[in-house]
Amino acid sequence: MRRSPPLFRTKPIETNLSADTGLHRSLTAFDLTVMGIGAIIGAGIFVLTGISAATEAGPAIVLSFVLSGSACAFAALSYAELASTVGGAGSAYGYGYAALGELPAWIIGWMLILEYIVAISTVAVGWSGYVHDGLASVGLAIPPQLLHGPFDPQAPGLIDLPATLIIVALGLLLANGAKVSARFNAVVVTIKLIAIAIFIAVALKHLNPALWHPFIPPAQTAPAGTTHFGVIGIFQGAALIFFAYIGFDAVSTAAEETRKPQRDLPIGIIGSLAICTILYIVVSALLTGIVPYQSLNVGSPVAKALLDVGENWAAGLISIGAIAGLTTVMLVLYYAITRILFAISRDGLLPRFLAVVNPRSKSPVRCITLVGATILLLAGFVPINRLAELTNIGTLGAFVVVCAGVIVLRHRHPDLPRGFRTPWSPLIPALGVLACFGLMTQLQAMTWIAFAIWLACGLTLYFGYARWHSVLSAAEPSP
Ligand code: ALA
Repeated sequence: MRRSPPLFRTKPIETNLSADTGLHRSLTAFDLTVMGIGAIIGAGIFVLTGISAATEAGPAIVLSFVLSGSACAFAALSYAELASTVGGAGSAYGYGYAALGELPAWIIGWMLILEYIVAISTVAVGWSGYVHDGLASVGLAIPPQLLHGPFDPQAPGLIDLPATLIIVALGLLLANGAKVSARFNAVVVTIKLIAIAIFIAVALKHLNPALWHPFIPPAQTAPAGTTHFGVIGIFQGAALIFFAYIGFDAVSTAAEETRKPQRDLPIGIIGSLAICTILYIVVSALLTGIVPYQSLNVGSPVAKALLDVGENWAAGLISIGAIAGLTTVMLVLYYAITRILFAISRDGLLPRFLAVVNPRSKSPVRCITLVGATILLLAGFVPINRLAELTNIGTLGAFVVVCAGVIVLRHRHPDLPRGFRTPWSPLIPALGVLACFGLMTQLQAMTWIAFAIWLACGLTLYFGYARWHSVLSAAEPSP
C-alpha cells in the first residue's frame, strides 16, 4: 500500500462517534442550540453593527449580514457533515487530521487557537467597558487605573480588573463540567434574547422607513485612499460583521460530550446559526430604520439608538442584555478552545500532560487553567482589542479548510456513515471555500501580516516540537 509522507499522514476515522473518550456525554440537541446562540450573539450585534453601518455600508448593512450569513451557512452545512462523520473534540483540527493530514491539521488547530484566544480576550475587554458604564451609572465608577492595562497607548493603567475577574469566574464555572456550564449558559442566553425581543418591539414603534434612503449610500473616498459605502462598502461591512456569526463552529467541539452526536450536532450547528441570522437581519434593519446610520459609530449603538428615540428604560435593559450576551460568548468560546487544545495534546502535538480529564467534573481542567491564564494576561494587560480582526481571518481560514474537507472526504471515503450530508455537494462546500476566501480578501493588510507572523510561529512550533511528539507518527514510523 502507498503510504502518505509523514507530514500529510491522515488519522484513521473513528466510526463509533458515541465511544467513551473520558469526557462526560451529557449534552442534548437543545443544549447545543442554546450553546450556539450563546457563542454567536454578542459584541457583533451589540457593538459592530452600528460601527459597520456608520462607516462601511449604511442601511445596506442588512445586505452585509445576508452576505456574511450566506458564507457561514455554507460553512455550517459543511461543519454539520464533518461533525456527524468525523466528530471529536478538536472540531476543524480533527477533520483536517482525518481528511488532509497532520501538518494541515496542525495549521488549522493553530488558526483556531488564534480565533478563540483573540475573540475571548477582545470580548472580555468589551464586557469590562459595559460593566464599568453600568456601575458608573449608579455611582460606582471603577478607578481608571483598574480599567486599562499598562500597554494601553491611550490610557495606560495597571490592569483591566473586570476583564480578569470575569475570566477567572468563567474558568471556575467550566471546571465544574459541561452540563453545569450549559445550564448557566441557558439562563443567560434567555436574558439576552429577551433584551433583543424588547429592542425589536420598541424599535418597531419608532420605525421611519425614510431613514433607509439612500439604502446604499454613494461611495466616498477617505483621505487615506480607502473607499467606504457604495457596493464595496457592503463587502467590507460583511468582512467586519462576520465576527457577529463566529461561534456556531464552537458547537462542534462538544462532539465528545453530546449524547447522540450524529443527530444532535447538525441540529445545534445549523439551528443556532439560522436563529441568529434571522435576528441579525431584523435588528440591523430596525437599527438603521429608527436613527440615522451616521449616528451609530459608538461603542453601544443599540442602547444609543433607543436613547435617541427617547426610550431610556429600554436602553438600560439593552445594556443588561449586552453584558449577558458578551458573558455567554466568552463562556462558550472558552469552552471550545479548551476542547480543541485537549484534542491537540491528546494527539501529542502539544504536551500530553494537558490531555487529562478531571475524574470528578470530567472536564479538561489543565487546559481550562492554561487557556484562562493566557486570556487573563492578554485581556488584563495588553490592548488586544486592536487585533480583533485577527479573529475573523483565523476563523475564515478554518472555514475554508472545513468546506474543502467535505469534498476531500467524500472523494477518499465515500462510504463512511454520515449522520448529516451537506446538500448539493460539492457545490455548497465549493461555494463555502469561495465565499470565505472572498471575505478574507476584504480584511486589512495589517491583519494579513499579523496572520502570516502567527502562522510562521505555528510552523516553527510544529517542526520544533509537535512533529517529534506526534502519537500518530510514533504509532506509524516513517517508511
Ligand atoms: N459572535 C460573537 C460576538 O459577536 C463572537 O461577540
